[in-house]
Amino acid sequence: MDKQGIIKIVEKYKCDAGKLLNVLEDIQKEEGYLSEVSLKNVSSVLGIPLTKIYSVATFYSFFNLKPVGAHIVTVCMGTACHVKGAFQVLEALEDLLGVKPGETTEDGKFMLTTKDRKFTVNTARCFGACSMAPVIMVDGKIYGYVNAKKLPLILKEYGWGVKNEKDSSDRRP
Ligand code: FES
Repeated sequence: MDKQGIIKIVEKYKCDAGKLLNVLEDIQKEEGYLSEVSLKNVSSVLGIPLTKIYSVATFYSFFNLKPVGAHIVTVCMGTACHVKGAFQVLEALEDLLGVKPGETTEDGKFMLTTKDRKFTVNTARCFGACSMAPVIMVDGKIYGYVNAKKLPLILKEYGWGVKNEKDSSDRRP
């Protein structure tokens, strides 16, 4: 986002350093992520050191520093979900969506985006829904008692289609 765009957002919040979060949220809402250019422009407009802005942007897991898919699938890797098979759910998800661990990572965050940018897979520590473990969240909606068989049904709600099913079965031995 250019400086004019940033200034528009800043004026909306009559900005001081305490409103930094609101500004970053608005930029992400508009652009889908926080680009390096946007963060540099925020630094320049607000007079806040870039390092401080980066530390805020990387502290909160809901900020993305790279473009993400249209749908965000978050697998809970908290203790309850881990014990109930979260890792197997994550592996099945990677297989279905055709993303490989380490394909796209940022700032130590686990984050995989499909080539068509339809889905981004990431992980979190706990959604507070441990009684339904293992749990995933898609675009903010919680799904409990998830397993490899349920995943295609869930993904279909978000446009994962027949072609994808065929492609993923082709990859299996
Ligand atoms: S550990 Fe997964 S929802 Fe709490």
